[in-house]
Amino acid sequence: MTATKIKRMGILSSGGDASGINPCIRAAVRTAITKNVEVMGIYEGFDGLIRGEMEELRARDVGGILQRGGTFLRTARCPEFKTKKGQREALRELNESEIDGLIVIGGDGSMHGAHALAGYDFPVVGAPASIDNDIYGTEMSIGVDTALNTIMEAVDKLRDTASSHQRAFLVETMGRGCGYLAVQVGIVCGAEMIIVPEEEATIDEVAEVLENAYARGKNSAIVVVAEGAKLKCSEIAAELNARDIGFETRVTILGHVPRGGSPTAFDRMLASRLGVRAVELLLDGKTDVMVGLQDGAIVGTPLEEVISRKQSPNPRYFEIARMISR
Ligand code: ADP
Ligand code: F6P
Repeated sequence: MTATKIKRMGILSSGGDASGINPCIRAAVRTAITKNVEVMGIYEGFDGLIRGEMEELRARDVGGILQRGGTFLRTARCPEFKTKKGQREALRELNESEIDGLIVIGGDGSMHGAHALAGYDFPVVGAPASIDNDIYGTEMSIGVDTALNTIMEAVDKLRDTASSHQRAFLVETMGRGCGYLAVQVGIVCGAEMIIVPEEEATIDEVAEVLENAYARGKNSAIVVVAEGAKLKCSEIAAELNARDIGFETRVTILGHVPRGGSPTAFDRMLASRLGVRAVELLLDGKTDVMVGLQDGAIVGTPLEEVISRKQSPNPRYFEIARMISR
């Protein structure tokens, strides 16, 4: 396909929000404007696109959002867009609004959506945003670093109360099917044990680790459990409380808390770089690609490849976590 010159670009955020989407939107909008391209901000993801909920964004409209969590364009999950009918409705809205290129910011599901649109010969570039860090083609997605820092602060606080009471805390972190956040926080907070979908454990193994930790003189223990792990915190706690392992146990589910909050410097920088590059690639005639961080550079990876693979935490992290939690 020969690249047509883009005069008006659309931008939307889709799927689960992540801290740093706002700086990404800001960077993309201002890059486009610098290159004399008009920008339409589409509200509430693919759902808002199908409904034609959009308005022009100028440089001032994206002022003051750099430090804010969430996404000012709001986001949505839109089952209708998974159907051909929904996708055609979206295309009709894009054509009627004279939008000739689109930036999609979101997680793995949203990249599937971006790829589907590109399949109709509509120019689309994706930018990865998801606290799960499971998107192939980028070492870090927007929002991961902020989530990690929030979880770290929470676990540090739990450690204070745990050590005062000689307790073991079972802490559940989000991450869908990916254990990235859990293993990272396990290392940076010195968790005694990490349970993730990539390395499952049995209740007997948890009991043994905690009993040993107590016997070695530890006055607290933290077990980080990824939400995608088969063993659930409540189940483990009920069983451990019925046995005498030394520690009393308590459960904390962090839930959606790590999804919010002001983006860290890392996330603001990553989001800004991804936003700029996404627009540059789109205006360069590239389509059906996602921008991502690889070896320090921002590069494009075909969406086909992005959606057919998954990124899993490096197994070395598990080794490190086990080695230094003694
Ligand atoms: P995330 O982008 O955070 O992974 P979801 O998995 O909920 O979140 O995906 C966000 C949206 O992307 C979905 O609600 C849907 O509109 C769109 N989407 C997801 N999967 C597909 C697919 N296979 N084809 C087309 N659109 C999809
Ligand atoms: O994909 C991001 C994520 O926060 C996952 O970690 C979690 O499983 C899911 O979204 C929660 O979805 P919802 O926001 O719909 O409750």
